[in-house]
Amino acid sequence: MNAALHPASHRPRSRLRRLIAPLVVPQVFDFWASRLHPTWSWERPLARIVGRSEASADAVTLLLAPNRNWAGRRHEPARAGQHLMIGARIDGALVSRSYSLSEAGRADGRIAITVKAIEGGKLSRHLHRDARVGDVLELGPAFGEMTLPARVDGRWLFVAAGSGITPLMAMTRQLAAQGMPVPLTLLYWARRREELCFVEELRAIAAAHPNFRVRFLLTRQEPRAADEDAGRIDASLLDAHIDDLAARQVYACGPGGFVANARGLIEARAQAFAAEAFTPPPRAVEDTGTVAVTLARSGRTLELARGESLLTALEAQGLKLNSGCRMGLCNTCSCGKSSGATRHLHTGDVHAEPVSSLRLCVNSATSDLVLDL
Ligand code: FES
Repeated sequence: MNAALHPASHRPRSRLRRLIAPLVVPQVFDFWASRLHPTWSWERPLARIVGRSEASADAVTLLLAPNRNWAGRRHEPARAGQHLMIGARIDGALVSRSYSLSEAGRADGRIAITVKAIEGGKLSRHLHRDARVGDVLELGPAFGEMTLPARVDGRWLFVAAGSGITPLMAMTRQLAAQGMPVPLTLLYWARRREELCFVEELRAIAAAHPNFRVRFLLTRQEPRAADEDAGRIDASLLDAHIDDLAARQVYACGPGGFVANARGLIEARAQAFAAEAFTPPPRAVEDTGTVAVTLARSGRTLELARGESLLTALEAQGLKLNSGCRMGLCNTCSCGKSSGATRHLHTGDVHAEPVSSLRLCVNSATSDLVLDL
């Protein structure tokens, strides 16, 4: 019955929009509409904060109600494991970063993000400390490939460290909502107990579903509870908690160094391995010296350091560039390159061919370059 009602409720609005579109200046519409309701907008995807709860000593969960302009409400529902761009006005300027959904696919259309306050992180500190219920945020479309398949089978292992728990928690919630159809173990690392998020909920899921095990691994404290252990990720700790790694499909998420370690320890031994890092992995190659980078549109030529990401190096020269994840995931920072060679900072690979989409955040210059900026 709901399915029959749903499209019908969208159609009149779409027809009305089409009819009056030639008469509407979006900015003027937005100005007056926002005085009636904070998320009414002609075309901007916005979300109102409708819930806020502490997730750990330094993280907060924000429940967001997106408006109808957000693609996730219209035709592309956000999936557990994906990320989206969040923007907020701070001191008059729009600051955007990407955050993982900690809960997706809710029946009420709302989504949750869990944000850890990062030292020096303008937006994360604003969302953690200052954002309140009723505030309105800008929303981008959901992106990211590390999601569960349509049909989940086999045996699974999630390996998380720090903020890497967020997308894996969204997937754990999704599986719990489906009655935990496959055996799943979650190994979740943090430095200290108070930095762990979702602890009580994870314990409740484990109590309700015999197919689900969770172990909290602390690197700077001794274990206290039966589901805690101590130590950094290594082969013996993995073997102590997983006796059937060869049968497991594994998702790993965390800082770059953690994910690189997890990959080295697990990839060759497990049935399948996928990973996402939210900080760059340790660099394989360090380039030195400088190159001349020409910006084709403005005609400027800048002297940039070789070993640094182009995004960071250009920002240091005063350029205001679009960016989101700063990890090579969201494509926000892409621009064309018509000549020169670049190195992918995560893989160490050098690419010398012209491209229409160079991700500035994960590439550095290895020779003089011409960029479409
Ligand atoms: S900022 Fe997301 S890909 Fe570069």
